[in-house]
Parts: sequence; C-alpha cells; structure tokens
Amino acid sequence: MPLPFDGAISAFYDNDAPKEVRDAIAKADKDDVLDQGYPYDQQMKRKEYERDMDALQIELVKLQAWVKETGERVAIVFEGRDAAGKGGTISRFRMNLNPRGARVVALSKPTETEATQWYFQRYIDHLPAGGEIVFFDRSWYNRGVVEHVFGFCEPEQRAHFFTQTPDFERMLVDEGIHLFKFWLNVGRAEQLRRFLKRESDPLKQWKLSWIDVEGLKKWDAYSEAIAETLKRSHSDAAPWTVIKTDDKKRARLAAIRHVLHSLDYARKDAKTIGEIDGKICGGPEIWGA
Ligand code: ADP
Ligand code: AMP
Ligand code: MLT
Repeated sequence: MPLPFDGAISAFYDNDAPKEVRDAIAKADKDDVLDQGYPYDQQMKRKEYERDMDALQIELVKLQAWVKETGERVAIVFEGRDAAGKGGTISRFRMNLNPRGARVVALSKPTETEATQWYFQRYIDHLPAGGEIVFFDRSWYNRGVVEHVFGFCEPEQRAHFFTQTPDFERMLVDEGIHLFKFWLNVGRAEQLRRFLKRESDPLKQWKLSWIDVEGLKKWDAYSEAIAETLKRSHSDAAPWTVIKTDDKKRARLAAIRHVLHSLDYARKDAKTIGEIDGKICGGPEIWGA
C-alpha cells in the first residue's frame, strides 16, 4: 500500500532541515533528549516512570469516582505542535478510567455549516456534563495557531478570537467547570525525530497529515503564532500550564500530577501524587526557555 506522504519527511530531513537539527538527530541515542534547553540529557528511566505512573493511575481512578459522585465537570484542553504528545498524554490519563465519563473530543476541520457559526459553538456542544471529564485533543486554539499559520482564517477572525477567548473561558470557569489548559512544547529536532518514526512505522502513519508535512517548513511561523496565543490567552481564570515534552515520560507525569494536585477529590493522597517537576512544567515562561 502506498504511504500517504511517501518519503516527504525523510526528504525534508535530508534536504531542508537546519544543520543543527539534522546533527542532533543523527548523533543521538534512543534515550537522549534532543532539546538543548532541556534540563535533562536523558529520558527518564522506564522503571522509575512506571512506578510513578502506576501510583498516579490509582489517584486518577479516585478522581473519576469523585467526579461521578459529586457531578463535577472537568474539561482538559491539550494544545501543542504536531507530535508534541497530545494523544499519548491523553491516553495515559484515560488508561484506567471508565470511558463512559472520560471522553476525548478531537474535532476535524469545521464543516461548511460550522464555519458559519460562532467559532466557539461547536466546542460548546462537547463541554462536560455533570460527572464527566472531557479531554480536548486540540481545541478552539486552532484559530490562534494552525488556522493562522495555514491561512484558514482571516486576520480579523483571529483578532476577534483573541478578544473573545478570555471572556469565553471565564464563563466556563464561573459556571463551575474545572478547566485545564495544557500547552505541550516539543523541540524542533524531537518533532522531526517523531515524524521520521511515524513515517517508517505502519502503525503510526495515520498520525501524519499534509499539515504536518507542510508545517515542517513553517516552524518559525508556528513559534510566532504560539507566543502570541499564549500571551493573549493566559488569564487568572484560565491560566496555561506549559510542559516541555521532549521527554514524553516526564511530561505525562507532570500533566497528570498537575490535574490531581489542583482538584480536591475524595481520598486524595497528595504524597503519592508527588512533586510536579518545575523544570519542565510551569506557566508561559517555560515556553521558549
Ligand atoms: P492532527 O495534528 O490533529 O492530527 P492535522 O495536523 O492534520 O491534525 O491538523 C491540525 C488541525 O488543523 C486539526 O485540528 C484540523 O482540524 C485543523 N485543520 C485542518 N484543515 C483545516 C482547514 N481547512 N480549516 C480549519 N482547520 C483545519
Ligand atoms: P492537598 O494538601 O492535597 O489538599 O493540596 C492542597 C493544594 O495544594 C492542592 O489543591 C494543590 O493545588 C496544592 N499542592 C499540594 N501539593 C502540591 C505539590 N506537590 N505541587 C504543587 N501543588 C501542590
Ligand atoms: C501527538 O503526539 O499525539 C500529537 O501531539 C498529535 C499530532 O501529531 O498532531
């Protein structure tokens, strides 16, 4: 079967990738972290990761039980460049949860009808009911970044989006929804390494789209759009949590810990949850650092 983007990623790697990116990938061992600014050279050891993750899974089960018992509503937004680790992080959150009550929302591009609606309208349909945790794999933030970078929206639409977003999110929070916003931040070399892996792995090829292929050439445009989006949409009511995800394991642990620490669910064991690694997880100041 022909691959959808046969060779496009490796062609980019061979011909177009900046030299430092190519060098970083070429000389790295499997467990090396590629991002120069990352506080660790090596990925976390699997054993340590699994020990911590197992403990967190038990806390997540308690969290869901509390959400169901009390009728609380939780919405968790995952944003970040392609291959930042959104899907993988969401699947670790959901690993031991009852899928009835822990939904993933991953909307495709707006239909013709949706494109005529208020931009937030189709997302509102998917907000949690009582007892639900909803994971948004991408969200209304498409308008801040990918739609802008690819010209899928007009500059005026994006400007309008930035004026409405803080009010929109404050309304969700006023309404009592527990809203989390994660920005997963992957480095340029690690993103390309993950794309190369997806290209060569038949089980991962579905994750590649033409947006990813074209996006490779638009790294700087993305960076600018992300910086502006974080600046315009970080608010007291709905702050961003930025996580460096070059090491997926540390990133997943940090994301889960952040949610667990923030909610006062029944039988919570704060000691078991453990410390959030402030070197890879924090506010918008973490991005680009
Ligand atoms: P993903 O990374 O979510 O697997 P893509 O990288 O293909 O998917 O696309 C990134 C985002 O851009 C998706 O949320 C998709 O819905 C959105 N998108 C793609 N094409 C358009 C379009 N023509 N107009 C608006 N949004 C689009
Ligand atoms: P607790 O003592 O578990 O009820 O936690 C009270 C609040 O303190 C929580 O809602 C968290 O926001 C915060 N908190 C507790 N432990 C930590 C930690 N290790 N890291 C970050 N925040 C924490
Ligand atoms: C992931 O690694 O799951 C990504 O963030 C999803 C994607 O490639 O767009």
